[in-house]
Amino acid sequence: MTHEDRYRELHPRSAVLYERALEHFPSGVTHDGRWMQPFPIAVEQASGAYKWDVDGNRLIDYWQGHGALLLGHSPAPVVAAVQRQVERGTHYGASHALEIEWAAAVKACFPQLERLRFTSSGTEATLLALRLARAYTGKPTVIRFAGHFHGWHDLLAQDLPDRLLPGVLRQVTEGLLVLPASLDVLERTLAECDDIAAVVLEPSGATYGTQPLPDAFLQQVRALTRDRDVLLLCDEVVTGFRVAPGGVQQRAGVVADLTALAKIVAGGLPGGAVGGRADIFQHLAFGDAAWNATHKIIHLGTYNANPLAAAAGIAALEVARTGEPQRRAATLGTQLIDGFNAVLRRHNFQSSAAYGDGSIFHLLLGSETSFAPGHLPPDLPLAELKQGGDPQLQRNFRLAMLNHGVDLMRGKSGFVSAAHTPDAIETTIRAFDTALGEIRERTT
Ligand SMILES: Cc1ncc(COP(=O)(O)O)c(C=O)c1O
Repeated sequence: MTHEDRYRELHPRSAVLYERALEHFPSGVTHDGRWMQPFPIAVEQASGAYKWDVDGNRLIDYWQGHGALLLGHSPAPVVAAVQRQVERGTHYGASHALEIEWAAAVKACFPQLERLRFTSSGTEATLLALRLARAYTGKPTVIRFAGHFHGWHDLLAQDLPDRLLPGVLRQVTEGLLVLPASLDVLERTLAECDDIAAVVLEPSGATYGTQPLPDAFLQQVRALTRDRDVLLLCDEVVTGFRVAPGGVQQRAGVVADLTALAKIVAGGLPGGAVGGRADIFQHLAFGDAAWNATHKIIHLGTYNANPLAAAAGIAALEVARTGEPQRRAATLGTQLIDGFNAVLRRHNFQSSAAYGDGSIFHLLLGSETSFAPGHLPPDLPLAELKQGGDPQLQRNFRLAMLNHGVDLMRGKSGFVSAAHTPDAIETTIRAFDTALGEIRERTT
């Protein structure tokens, strides 16, 4: 039986829901990343490290809310806080004490944030950050790095040089310089251009570390931007509260001018934030009529600092600030990566490796570049790392892992939460072993 036949056999109700979803959503999904062939699984319940699909299959979950769920699904303190709050109202259309408490909880982890604003998502956070950077500096151009992801809005949608995206105005992308993640190129560009407002980056490296960068890269970018009086916008939407309570900035000893946050910040509910220097944030403050007309930037948003998200965020950050969940998730994540690589070596699965940063992991299976199993060479091309290896192999692998009860993000990466257990990690490694064995059997 093929992997796909078995998948269809195990997921008949997901297949039916997919047919219904096709009547409503393009390709039947509400997020590009959730699309897969022959159809995605539909989930009806989740708890801790697990989720259950509509066919009753239990899956060890490594999506963990696209990285939002450091504490796993429905952790008790977050559930209690949300239940308490929902009784008291979900939207006041007014200021409230919880938003202040939430801001203080964020600052307990990121003490460098002198001021902040809450948004509804990470996309909105980077959007607002760019507007702030341009208003503060009066300069038009923003530098970003190829392959780094900062949300889907027009201002940062272009992720490769010369790539025009359908629906995005060329004029909008003219305000963007997309560079390779090279300190030399950055240094040269900063020396040559005097219209740069900010440099934005994912401090982990492109797409939560798919093409990893050492913390020294962030330190160097900080030094270069400071020398040139250019703002540094650190996108810690994924890494914030995860690699350390204060994100990569804390680990690297770097203070950015602006920081974008989302995911963990809102405890699994929709939410984001931008924080940074008070003088930059002054551009969000009201002043006299002349200031308001020419300098104040607009920021509205029905769900900014929504009380439910605030309650969830406060409860999650209270745990996150201790550093304990990060340590636990990182230890388990490292065990998972080591376990995957041991299996790859045992199967002599060439040109394949697992890698990552603590609780964040990635898989490259069947790379075009040849290397020994489990030993990712440095400097692999961005496109290859993002691709994650051989597409046909990946497709079979993803189906096989789902058939054996493991849901990896897009079949090639994932987030370990503090709710995962050594037993769940062992089970995942065994599933990996079985999946690779089956793939071997069916292709030889
Ligand atoms: C680094 C980074 N920035 C921004 C975003 C956008 O966040 P959101 O999906 O909440 O809009 C993401 C989403 O995955 C991200 O990974």
